[in-house]
Amino acid sequence: MIDRAGRPARWHPAIVALHWLTLLLIVIQFLLASPMRDETRNLIERFEFYQLHKSVGLTIAAFVVLRLILRLGLPSPPPLNAGRWLRWAADAVHGGLYLCVIALPLTGFLMVSSAPVQIPTLYFGWFAIPHPIVADKATYELMRSLHDWAGDALIALGAVHLGAAVVHVLIWHDNLLRRMWFRRGGAAQN
Ligand code: HEM
Ligand code: HEM
Repeated sequence: MIDRAGRPARWHPAIVALHWLTLLLIVIQFLLASPMRDETRNLIERFEFYQLHKSVGLTIAAFVVLRLILRLGLPSPPPLNAGRWLRWAADAVHGGLYLCVIALPLTGFLMVSSAPVQIPTLYFGWFAIPHPIVADKATYELMRSLHDWAGDALIALGAVHLGAAVVHVLIWHDNLLRRMWFRRGGAAQN
């Protein structure tokens, strides 16, 4: 269903798919962070965890770029009936989430590229992705801190975002969650 301003009632299925797929991959990234840095594990195991974390992270980056292109090219559903400040807060949180999912792969890739001990980045073991910068300890330390901060910021913003979704569903009983899901049944159902 399209309103008079040409805005659809729900998000495009490609945006929906990318939203939930990105969430799934982010959860995997956080789950991988601890075993890959666990010094009690053997080096080969840790190497595999790091490679997986790097590959999944770069896949997230590709999904985010695709999602931003679709997001800018496709019409979005109208804001739900909330006050001006709440709409502004929602936009700010969404913007912050986008910033985090851009900053994390970028700082992660620049961190491994500038690491004093150079380890190749093998994309799911298929091919090596060339590192764009040379080893440099100061850059490595900076990127490592930024990667860490961006991870914390993503958790904080993600918690606010999840909290807002819970309020919409449990208190305001609106269709917020349904419009970020796939249409079931016929066209009449929105
Ligand atoms: C959205 C994608 C990503 C997320 C959510 C993510 C998340 C994280 C988190 C939570 C940590 C642990 C930080 C800490 O506790 O100190 C971490 C560490 C790390 N990440 Fe990522 N990451 C992502 C992408 C990447 C990419 C693309 C790369 C490299 C190509 C990368 C390389 C690393 C490395 C090398 C570490 C270990 C840093 C250390 O030794 O302290 N990450 N990541
Ligand atoms: C914790 C689980 C999550 C839930 C329950 C959730 C739920 C939702 C819902 C219901 C919407 C639709 C809002 C509307 O129609 O106005 C939405 C939009 C959005 N979500 Fe999430 N989300 C979650 C995690 C995430 C994560 C981890 C990110 C980080 C990338 C994210 C980024 C966004 C963005 C940027 C939007 C705005 C629409 C867009 O530009 O794609 N969400 N989310």
